[in-house]
Amino acid sequence: MDDLAAAQQLYDTVADSYARLLPDASFEAAEDLAMIARFTALLPSDARVLDAGCGTGRMQPVLRELLPAHRATGADLSEEMLRHARAAHPGTRFDRAPLAALPYRDGSLDGVLAWYSIIHTAPAALDAVFAEFRRVLADDGVVLLGFQHGRGQRHRSEAYGHTVELRAHLHSVDGVTAALEHARFTAVERVIREARPGEAQDQGFVLARAA
Ligand SMILES: C[S@@+](CC[C@H](N)C(=O)[O-])C[C@H]1O[C@@H](n2cnc3c(N)ncnc32)[C@H](O)[C@@H]1O
Repeated sequence: MDDLAAAQQLYDTVADSYARLLPDASFEAAEDLAMIARFTALLPSDARVLDAGCGTGRMQPVLRELLPAHRATGADLSEEMLRHARAAHPGTRFDRAPLAALPYRDGSLDGVLAWYSIIHTAPAALDAVFAEFRRVLADDGVVLLGFQHGRGQRHRSEAYGHTVELRAHLHSVDGVTAALEHARFTAVERVIREARPGEAQDQGFVLARAA
């Protein structure tokens, strides 16, 4: 099974538990939320912001609090995750779409938040995803990525209380930055945060602007 099909199957299976166990952003470290605040600070107040790989829409209230007048959209592979997002945020448009083939016009967005959604994309496949982010973003558009930092893959046989085959890709801040530059972005900020207790990996964040 390829990465996309495996991710879709995984999140369709765990969606209800994910929504129950991770209902909001209270698990996020304060410095990770501060990174999101620095992303929204680069955007106009009425920015069109895509939550790319939005899952259950868990990060929507964070974006709404930081940027109350922004126009929100979400996209995700998993219909079951989207079902939760649509129920929780009835006024927001959520589309079922892969990150590398988004149903939005060229230059139609100001910001893309990809919060732990490139973790099922192999490093070699990031170019296609970032080219798509660049295509949908306006010329001064901004992207923020959060991901588990490292090299190689991680495998788990349990996730969110389910027996599943979870396969995820680790990414390095350097590798993500290089792929962003290849897609005509310029890095604004790069952060590696040390793993907290309970986290198996350090966390990586890259904030970049369309060049
Ligand atoms: C770990 S969850 C994160 C969800 C949300 N961003 C959050 O922070 O709660 C990863 C999400 O990314 C989605 N995803 C992974 N790869 C994707 C792809 N290539 N295209 C679209 N969605 C993808 C999954 O379906 C899943 O909902």
